[in-house]
Amino acid sequence: MLFSVEPKATRRDLYDREVELNELRDSVFRGDRLIAVYGIRRIGKTSLVKAFLSDLSQPYVLIDVRQIYFVEGNVNVGSLVRHVLDGFREFMGRNERFWEGFRDALRSIDWVRVGAGGVEVRLSRRSRMNLMELLNVIDGWCGRNSTRFILVFDEAQYMRFSNVRYDGVLAWAYDNLSNVTFIVTGSEVGALRDFLRIDDPEAPLYGRYIKEVYVDRFSKDASLDFLRRGFTELGVEVSEGELEEVYERLDGIVGWLTLYGYLRGIDKLGHREALDKVFNDGVKLVLSELDAVIKPSRARYLAILNAVAHGLNTWSEIRRYVEVRTGEVSDAVFNRLMKNLIRYGYLSKVNNTYVIPDPVVTRAVMEVHIG
Ligand SMILES: Nc1ncnc2c1ncn2[C@@H]1O[C@H](COP(=O)(O)OP(=O)(O)OP(=O)(O)O)[C@@H](O)[C@H]1O
Ligand SMILES: [Mg+2]
Repeated sequence: MLFSVEPKATRRDLYDREVELNELRDSVFRGDRLIAVYGIRRIGKTSLVKAFLSDLSQPYVLIDVRQIYFVEGNVNVGSLVRHVLDGFREFMGRNERFWEGFRDALRSIDWVRVGAGGVEVRLSRRSRMNLMELLNVIDGWCGRNSTRFILVFDEAQYMRFSNVRYDGVLAWAYDNLSNVTFIVTGSEVGALRDFLRIDDPEAPLYGRYIKEVYVDRFSKDASLDFLRRGFTELGVEVSEGELEEVYERLDGIVGWLTLYGYLRGIDKLGHREALDKVFNDGVKLVLSELDAVIKPSRARYLAILNAVAHGLNTWSEIRRYVEVRTGEVSDAVFNRLMKNLIRYGYLSKVNNTYVIPDPVVTRAVMEVHIG
């Protein structure tokens, strides 16, 4: 169903994204080692990657790094190792012969105990090594089976919350494992690039080719077509004028369009109610996410976003507004705050002016008190 609200997991439920799917496919098939998928929140990164994976015959594992971080408070190697092993087990559940061979390969790792029922993991303190060892075994197994392993770190920028430098692990894997492709996704594009330290000559991954895929908002035509198809699928009649309004207000961000479609088509709300609810629920969601980012300097961050939400778009206009609202601020501090908002995707810079890329974020920052 096009309007189901969880990330899509099959090509059938995924609307369009043909270009991006082809890019991923070409990249994996020619053996690229590292692919980065960028896009703002709710633009459909996870859906794209899951739908892509669902069509592959190669083994793959998708790890939701943000989820691990929020549940466990950090991203330690133990969780990643367990997720990789569980994912492999699940993938091979359908193929006993594969699993037997893989289990044999695992026997070479001293911290993995392979029993009749499954595999038991006892991690040592050389934690960084553990992941590398496991990936090495997988790489060898793939080589022997003429296949490729695809390991996805969804919202990989959260991997920075660990005592392990994963960019080093990735660089090592990049250089040494010819049968593994990593896909990293990130809605905090700047934070993901910082984590990978793509632009830092001192960093382990510097100078390596990274295939970059950008997931963008739908065009007007695509948005309207998506909505029409979704409603047709549910047998719900809607007017063109209403759909136009939905597009104008939600701006081609598929996550919000989907939520509107769900509220209207499944929950049977009217047009106005559904649209209001997208904003009401969306604002709550946005504020809970935004809170963590702006905590260190809440009033100033909010003043910046508020300025932009009210149409002040240049550096000096925004700065003046912030000083009026929150008192004097130095260039250095102001620039740092602006840069952070860009890193986390709450602000983007277009031809020297600043915009908020998501209309629900605009609404959220207009509603909240700067205090
Ligand atoms: N191409 C698509 N066709 C249909 N529905 C989609 C498509 N892409 C995304 N969606 C829907 O939009 C919502 C957001 O998608 P998804 O979770 O994949 O986005 P995301 O970019 O990973 O978001 P987040 O940054 O929150 O992780 C979900 O409800 C999903 O079902
Ligand atoms: Mg996602």
